[in-house]
Amino acid sequence: MTLLDGKKTSNDLKEEIKASVDLRKTTGKKTPHLAAVLVGTDGASMTYVNSKVKACEYVGFSSTLLDMPADTSEATLLEKIEGLNNDPDIDGYIVQLPLPKHIDEQKVLMAVNPDKDVDGFHPTNVGRMTLDMPCFLPATPYGILELLERYKVETAGKHVVIIGRSHIVGRPMSILMSQKRPAGNATVTVAHSRTSNLKELCLQADIIVAALGIPEFLTGDMVKDGVTIIDVGITRVEDTSKKRGYRLAGDVDFKSVSPKAAFITPVPGGVGPMTIAMLLKNTLLACERRD
Ligand code: GUN
Repeated sequence: MTLLDGKKTSNDLKEEIKASVDLRKTTGKKTPHLAAVLVGTDGASMTYVNSKVKACEYVGFSSTLLDMPADTSEATLLEKIEGLNNDPDIDGYIVQLPLPKHIDEQKVLMAVNPDKDVDGFHPTNVGRMTLDMPCFLPATPYGILELLERYKVETAGKHVVIIGRSHIVGRPMSILMSQKRPAGNATVTVAHSRTSNLKELCLQADIIVAALGIPEFLTGDMVKDGVTIIDVGITRVEDTSKKRGYRLAGDVDFKSVSPKAAFITPVPGGVGPMTIAMLLKNTLLACERRD
């Protein structure tokens, strides 16, 4: 069993990005600048956004955190977004999801300038991705492709079962892995909460991407020997033995699945750090495009 080490791989990526930023600086080019918009005080979202800002500092980017109260109106948020679209120093930005219930998420995502949409969530980028055109790829699927590629996991002709059809992970992952690309050319099945024969499908899978958000859902009896497992889940599960009162659990029961796996991502330290590294990569790309 080989661990797909997202922490190490993301560190390698960050070093590569840092070297590109250093070179930009010594040649008088613009420093990449990422902004993050956070509405409210959701604990997990605050942790993610802070990690993104810290990663920016590490690679030498400028970063701006726009921290807005939970009762921010949709109109005020849209004004902020307009400001970011028009700010020439901002190369790319993200609006951390989920947003409070009173804000229309679709309306917000549509307001982001696609050229600054380093999350790849705008319909223009989703459409371009689907049509194999240059675009910003969403960071989590992009990170998974990068991990599969760097560990030379064969995907061509393989059966990939993706559990989950979210706009952020499952749906784009299914499109990308079926395309003609590195870590692509796979036969893809998208399973979800209405799938009736999930165990049967998983037992046929060469690669399983678990992205449904139910802790330790995928168990050893659901996978075949030699499977590759990508665990996208990261849920806070109450654990009184921990100082902070919770532990982080993936969608995969690592204990029963890992002995059967050829490759598997750990949680934490698998997909999570890759997401951040790919966001940085997209921001560098956005900056280079604006040169
Ligand atoms: N919430 C969960 N994942 C993501 C992500 O990749 N980007 C943003 N903006 N919000 C998220």
